[in-house]
Amino acid sequence: MVKVGLLGCGTVGSGVVKLLEQNRDIIAQRAGEEIVLHKVLDRDVEKCRRLGIASAKIAADVEEILKDEEIDIVVELIGGVEPACSYVLEAISQGKHVVSANKDLIAVKGREILEAAEANRVDFYYEASVGGGIPVIYPLKQSLAANRIKEVIGILNGTTNYMLTKMSREGLNYEQVLKEAQELGYAEADPTSDVEGLDAARKIAILSSIAFNSRITLDDVYVEGITRITPTDIKYAAELGYVIKLLAIAKEDEEGQVEVRVNPAFIPADHPLAGVNDVFNAVFVKGDAVGDVMHYGRGAGQMPTASAVVGDIIEIVRNMRSGCNSRLGCTCYTEKKVLKIED
Ligand code: NDP
Ligand code: HSE
Repeated sequence: MVKVGLLGCGTVGSGVVKLLEQNRDIIAQRAGEEIVLHKVLDRDVEKCRRLGIASAKIAADVEEILKDEEIDIVVELIGGVEPACSYVLEAISQGKHVVSANKDLIAVKGREILEAAEANRVDFYYEASVGGGIPVIYPLKQSLAANRIKEVIGILNGTTNYMLTKMSREGLNYEQVLKEAQELGYAEADPTSDVEGLDAARKIAILSSIAFNSRITLDDVYVEGITRITPTDIKYAAELGYVIKLLAIAKEDEEGQVEVRVNPAFIPADHPLAGVNDVFNAVFVKGDAVGDVMHYGRGAGQMPTASAVVGDIIEIVRNMRSGCNSRLGCTCYTEKKVLKIED
């Protein structure tokens, strides 16, 4: 039996609790072991109680989870850089494997965390940090590893894609559609990250670091969000045969220089990305051997994101059973020149 400690019982955390229960049998079969939620922490204990978590499993303090020798895997779903970073590093130093969906953290501290995981011979997995439920990090790290990647282009933020879709289809105003996205659990705790393009920037920093085997952080990404897009812009774009999407783009040129940006863009209405609507995300990858690959699915929301988090937990349990770790933990980066894009 493998024991999990969960930090954060909000939208995604509660999805993880539900999924571990709902698909307990099939998860145990695939992992090769029963996976049990041993302790859960949230600032608001009522959130844990509402999920039916027994009082004995509700931690009063984070140390109850990080220092619990019975816990093998810590799942960090509180969000933000601190205290999440300290908790993750402490869990790793205690010899625990860690799963996180926290792109804020990984986009700035990813390398430090991966190095700590490597040094402590534990796994740090973060599939849910990009594209919600869409498998994209694992395929880039593993299935596409033989390719020289030329470019990655994505619709990487579910909130803004939902907003642009609703503004386009129903002519709703910006405030209305943002409120809806928040109610559906798509938006970040602070939705400024979504609408200003920072969330997509964090995700493309993570993806481009993997794709170009380099260390690209949030600071390297040119960012422009959707706050200035109005229903009128969308209407005029449609009249000209275009749709407006918030795109995240990372490219490597022939000299090995990398350019990474997030900005709203006009896309011809017949382009495949133009048909990616609502909370759906898509990631195009161009590799020299494979050609074009597109990943598509729900980029945010409780159960799609929980699907990716629990998938990571299962993979770690498999690794534990086979005595090997870290398909994702390679820290052998090449330093690359990242082109600065000015306003
Ligand atoms: P929520 O805000 O819904 O959940 C986070 C929970 O953790 C809240 O209950 C929060 O309490 C609690 N919390 C925050 N800080 C602490 C702390 N220091 N100690 C104890 N509890 C704490 O966020 P989400 O579930 O939406 O997101 C979790 C993570 O997953 C984030 O990193 C997010 O970026 C990522 N993610 C989210 C997706 C989504 O669709 N929502 C999709 C993909 C990734 P309180 O509310 O009181 O702050
Ligand atoms: N707020 C994020 C989004 C959650 O809307 O895409 C998924 O990372």
